[in-house]
Amino acid sequence: MRFPFFHRILALSALCGVFGGTLPTKRQQPTVCNGHAELCSRPYGNITFLGSHDSYAFSTDPLIVSRDQEVDIVSQLDLGVRMLQAEGHLNDDGVLHFCHTSTRVLIYLVWIDLLVFFYYSIGCLLFDGGTVEAYLTTVKTWLDANPDEVLTFLFTNGDGLSISETWAPAFVAAGIDTVSYIPPINPMTRSDWPTLGDLISADTRVITFMDAGADGTDGPPVDYILPEFTMLWEPPFDSTDASFPCSVNRTSGPLTNEQHLNLLNHNLDVSVLGILLPNLADAATTNGVASIIADSNGCTAFTGGLAANFVLLDWVDIGEGPQAVDQLNGFSS
Ligand SMILES: *[C@@H]1O[C@H](CO)[C@@H](O)[C@H](O)[C@H]1NC(C)=O
Repeated sequence: MRFPFFHRILALSALCGVFGGTLPTKRQQPTVCNGHAELCSRPYGNITFLGSHDSYAFSTDPLIVSRDQEVDIVSQLDLGVRMLQAEGHLNDDGVLHFCHTSTRVLIYLVWIDLLVFFYYSIGCLLFDGGTVEAYLTTVKTWLDANPDEVLTFLFTNGDGLSISETWAPAFVAAGIDTVSYIPPINPMTRSDWPTLGDLISADTRVITFMDAGADGTDGPPVDYILPEFTMLWEPPFDSTDASFPCSVNRTSGPLTNEQHLNLLNHNLDVSVLGILLPNLADAATTNGVASIIADSNGCTAFTGGLAANFVLLDWVDIGEGPQAVDQLNGFSS
């Protein structure tokens, strides 16, 4: 019987991992992590990662005003995105999709074309990015082909859908649960996180934050779907001010601001007749090194002087997102 023995070995190595303060290793320490040898020994909480805002809302059709990205998920990952943000809703078929259904999008509907409304009826009103399961399966295929990469998800659960009954099954179907990191304590402070090398050698390379419900408010919690705001604070979102004034807008205790990870909502909107749209015209400047570094510097009053952990951008293929992140990590790219 190979299984029980294998299980005992696994349990033993897991115990050694817990008591030794390190993660169980499933493979050798990598030599290059997220593209840089230096990042292997750096803790996750001391790294700046490039992020994609509304990652599923990609289209090259300029008539689709609700798009936030031009390139698909795999292209985003290939160009260096390591945080994928997305908003989940039940579609009218009862299946979890990534799509916009905010009031902001309802206004778009009236503005663009009522046919879109009739077509989607309820659920994914405007930009239907497909099922969460299909999205996660695409990402899992990419992760399998890129074993030395650590990736963070930032998902939005505005409708308070059940974490265990609606969200987790999509993770399991895609196999993302098997490569997910489960923190030993909750909340983790910014300095508690393992190094990228340890996350990769344990093959727990996916960290998932959920903005609502992961603390048990929306059904039983799931150990690899982490509550966002107890560990990560956000500045205001939907900024129309290109200087991105920084303040702590959304957070939760008991950790201090400095003990939280932090992200930059560095996606600029433009107000068209009072309607907020992703600003494509200024994307090259918004996503330039100067603007991103200035935004990170503007938040250091709340981080104890440290650079931001995540830089969320619209139009990730435009501008210098990867270069700005390299610079924040101390690499001159
Ligand atoms: C990582 O640590 C260095 C050295 O303290 C610091 O300059 C940098 O801002 C930190 N980055 C992050 C994302 O915490």
